[in-house]
Amino acid sequence: MKHRFPGVADGWSRFDAPAGTQMVDQAIDAVAGWMRSPAMACSGGWFDASEATGELVGRARASVGRLFHADPAGVCFGPNMTSLTFAFSRAVAETLRPGDRVIGTRLDHEANVSPWRAACLASGADHVLAPFDAGSGTLPPELVVDLIDERTRWVTLPGASNLLGTAPDLAPIVDAAHAVGARVYVDAVALAPHRRIDVAALGCDAIVSSPYKWYGPHSGVLWVDPDLLDSLPVFKVRPAPDLGPGRFETGMPNYEAIAGVDAAARFLLDEGMDRVAEAEMEVFAPLLRGLQSIDGVTVYGPSGLQGRTPTAAFRVEGVGPADVAKALAAERIAVWDGHNYALEVVDTLGLGDQGGVVRAGLARYLDLDDVQRLLGVVERLAAWS
Ligand SMILES: Cc1ncc(COP(=O)(O)O)c(C=O)c1O
Repeated sequence: MKHRFPGVADGWSRFDAPAGTQMVDQAIDAVAGWMRSPAMACSGGWFDASEATGELVGRARASVGRLFHADPAGVCFGPNMTSLTFAFSRAVAETLRPGDRVIGTRLDHEANVSPWRAACLASGADHVLAPFDAGSGTLPPELVVDLIDERTRWVTLPGASNLLGTAPDLAPIVDAAHAVGARVYVDAVALAPHRRIDVAALGCDAIVSSPYKWYGPHSGVLWVDPDLLDSLPVFKVRPAPDLGPGRFETGMPNYEAIAGVDAAARFLLDEGMDRVAEAEMEVFAPLLRGLQSIDGVTVYGPSGLQGRTPTAAFRVEGVGPADVAKALAAERIAVWDGHNYALEVVDTLGLGDQGGVVRAGLARYLDLDDVQRLLGVVERLAAWS
């Protein structure tokens, strides 16, 4: 699989994948091919290039729709998850009233917290964050369900934690929200690279993801239930479309990125997400077990392979996370340290002022040799400290 990813040809072990993956060859080719082609144009005109651009966007919506088992008519493209979520929550804010509630979780990345806090501040609604179980790193559904009542308008959930890898069971929460007429927004950024997502089965009202975490270019994808999409009071310029995904695609879309998103989605569809999940867990199991077995290493998040993605968070006793990351980098192993924008998670774990954690996450281009390299360095650091 490594040969499909030119970005790892330099021999580095790139465990920084949860922050952004290397692009797959066919997505790189699609971006470059689009930019080289005469089709570079704005969509909506009567000439060939403009029609080809419109077709590209339609193709990409269809691919993303297939990837998430969602109606392509709800697929909106944007710069990244954070910008799309701010745009979405700003529209939702217009529909909230004082006394309404938006319920989020402390397991979320800050990009699924701050935009909702801002929407509540602007509208006078209450923003409530459900805790997660700090000991196991899991989010038992009842911790969210118990907060949902008739005041609740939106429930905002993590598909998976970008820091701990926890992938909570969302279905009971979605059902409880819908039972009181609330809607559900899912941040699937850390889930989409690793698991099959079936929006039709899950029944969420909106879901958001970042294709640069699944082998595509830097960009964001937001799916909104098409009826909801058309009814939201979106901030847009007057001539922009009044219906459909164009409502959230403010200004000129990044067509070359959309070409890459289409190709990256097709890569995952061809691979098959169930096969991706299985192959990744074969590499992740030794990583998780290896870290857990080193004296002086504390691993956070779910202790087993169930209910999680292949992302590990850990600390080495006596060595700060940044120093662990530097030592790994000296051996050409890339990881991130700190809070990784999961502010509520590190605070819950009491690590907010301790440098957070070291995060090592898998992608399709990492194999057992990479795992052994990482474990070797961590073992050495733990033995010295
Ligand atoms: C779980 C999660 N949500 C949201 C984001 C923000 O994504 P973006 O960089 O596309 O705004 C990230 C980025 O790391 C993430 O990991």
